[in-house]
Amino acid sequence: SESISYKNNQLHVEDIGCQSLVERFGSPLYVYSKSQLVNNWQQFQQHWPSPHKLCYAVKANSNLAVLQVLAHQGAGFDIVSGGELQRVLAAGGKPESIVFSGVAKSKDEIILALETGIGCFNVESEAELERIQDIAAAMNKQAPVSLRVNPDVDAKTHPYISTGMKANKFGIGMKQSRAVFKRAAELPNIRLIGADCHIGSQIMTPEPFLDAARLMFELVLDLKKEGIELTHLDLGGGFGVSYQNEAPLDKSHYLTQLVEMAKDFPDVTMMLEPGRAIAANAGVLLTSVEYIKASEEKRFVLVDAGMNDMLRPSLYQAWHDIVPVKEKNDEAPQISDIVGPVCETGDFLGHARHLNVVQDDILAVKHAGAYGFTMASNYNSRGRPAEVMVSGNDARLVRERENFDDLIRGEHLLDKDYI
Ligand code: LLP
Repeated sequence: SESISYKNNQLHVEDIGCQSLVERFGSPLYVYSKSQLVNNWQQFQQHWPSPHKLCYAVKANSNLAVLQVLAHQGAGFDIVSGGELQRVLAAGGKPESIVFSGVAKSKDEIILALETGIGCFNVESEAELERIQDIAAAMNKQAPVSLRVNPDVDAKTHPYISTGMKANKFGIGMKQSRAVFKRAAELPNIRLIGADCHIGSQIMTPEPFLDAARLMFELVLDLKKEGIELTHLDLGGGFGVSYQNEAPLDKSHYLTQLVEMAKDFPDVTMMLEPGRAIAANAGVLLTSVEYIKASEEKRFVLVDAGMNDMLRPSLYQAWHDIVPVKEKNDEAPQISDIVGPVCETGDFLGHARHLNVVQDDILAVKHAGAYGFTMASNYNSRGRPAEVMVSGNDARLVRERENFDDLIRGEHLLDKDYI
């Protein structure tokens, strides 16, 4: 990204050198560029004219300051839990701009969402629909509802989503959904407003999205013939970004075509739920080299960030670029595994990287703004990293590094006679 790049041989986030960020805030450290976040958001909006709406998928990065910056841009939000709902509200997001996805919403979460007055429940099963009806009736409210259907886009044609559309737990099968739409239309405390789908994540070509869109528009037409008029169609997120110089999804092309398709449906407001495409390239994870260890087989660069701080490489074999904060051109790079302090062989950030680093150097794991901190844990009793938001030459701590008190908050020692 333009906002995170080398200047005078040092990696900068906007106008601040990463070395000074670590000196000031410690390591490991998540750093976000405010202007990159805003740029990413505005790029989507450029090709997505009102009344169509964008709901940022909070799970990608739910730091309050990140949500606040996006709320300030007028963002809507796609949430998957009561916790995310409360984060959005705490960050100044508007309740009516919230859509609530997720396969197993609890009673408490449904009550909270109804009390708050969210914009839409993205309902994923008939059982969930009935539960929302019951709770809404007890609260004497109308629940705005969209049904998530599984358009089962041909995975063979599109290997990026070959993780199986039919066999997954999300949504309601396209055929089956007709009956559920009818049921929803009859329920007294359900206000059926739309349909939604989400076909997967990190999708690099527009075809599967457009296939899904065509099927969803067909559904809208079919339902209309049966007297069910939907006013909103949410096509989810999943817009692929470039981690390794691949060509990213051509958003403008895709969005323009969607807007074109939507013209035949003047009563339908379109929605999208981008997460990764907004946050990924707006963040880096800075980590310090603790030791170098060379065995006969391999050279290990042992860093202070582990799989508990950044899970994607371990969990998905995801490839993230890892670069030295200070560019060195003098020596030949050596092939190294970049591994963390966690006691697992699967704890790595990158394998077989050509890097020229020594002890105490600082490395940057790039494109760490999405599904980075949000997937962090306290495994090995490691406090989660601090988070910083940079704007120009100003840096603000937006989440403190966790300390021991944070780690044991809520834990209780046993009474003496109970041991
Ligand atoms: N909407 C729904 C209903 C979703 O399930 C998701 C992501 C999104 C929107 C946002 O998708 P995005 O635009 O960010 O691709 N932890 C994984 C990604 C899991 C995505 C789950 N759902 C990773 O680190 O790659």
